Amino acid sequence: MNNSAIGVFDSGVGGLTCVKELTALMPRENIIYLGDTARVPYGTKSADTIARYAREDISFLEKFNVKMILIACGTVSSVLMTRPLFDGSTVTEYSGVIYPTVTAACAATRCGKIGVIGTPATIRSGCYGKAIREIRNDIKVVSKACPMFVPLVENGYTDVNDKVARIIAEEYLEVMKREGVDTLILGCTHYPHLEGVISSVMGDNVRLISSGAEIAKYAERTLVSKGLAAEREERGTLDLYCTDSEELFSENVETFLGHKDNITVSTCSVK
Ligand code: DGL
Repeated sequence: MNNSAIGVFDSGVGGLTCVKELTALMPRENIIYLGDTARVPYGTKSADTIARYAREDISFLEKFNVKMILIACGTVSSVLMTRPLFDGSTVTEYSGVIYPTVTAACAATRCGKIGVIGTPATIRSGCYGKAIREIRNDIKVVSKACPMFVPLVENGYTDVNDKVARIIAEEYLEVMKREGVDTLILGCTHYPHLEGVISSVMGDNVRLISSGAEIAKYAERTLVSKGLAAEREERGTLDLYCTDSEELFSENVETFLGHKDNITVSTCSVK
């Protein structure tokens, strides 16, 4: 048993898709979330800049003596997949989104064609394809960068009937439909916020795999199997930090988590 908090970070509100799943799976855990809203998006930055940001985000979470850190950002997870981000860290349990997500996608596909959408940096890294081929080398991977999805989400254009989101989604996802993928990895943790639109464009037969949800399931499996899950009577707390104004962030929090009970939102500096 370990009652320390789980630390989660993302460049913005995207990682809340992981938090939502974590609180559903492990309601007794305390969670500390950092959204680096002052510097979002990460997906358009160089690998060195993303590495510097990620190290600062990790150092911020380490100050809370967290027992685990989840990199709920597809961009950090993929661009820095081979970099030793946690060397010298006090935190020994950590994960990015790639492996939990591709494991779920490989198990889900029936026709052997998996689509991957993500930020330009994630797609350029090719790391989802590489990770999929490590599990199954008979799978065809179709990738597409969707750079306008993150700004749509950060600015709240997420409704299933939103005309702008729909036009953009149709344009981006045309190749996925043409190639006949039956499983689509939402390789950026912002994208599940557009799940309604994406699903209505792709159709009911295509299974959407949320990287935020899969990393949360990985966290549960790991903490439970290692005896590190929290044990307390009451629900855990959720402390959210953002690096820019609390205003838009708080609005998004309510929209994306569906409530604001037992949640604190604060602005912080990670430098
Ligand atoms: N949620 C981030 C990701 O999963 C957003 C991307 C960005 O900051 O560009 O990649």
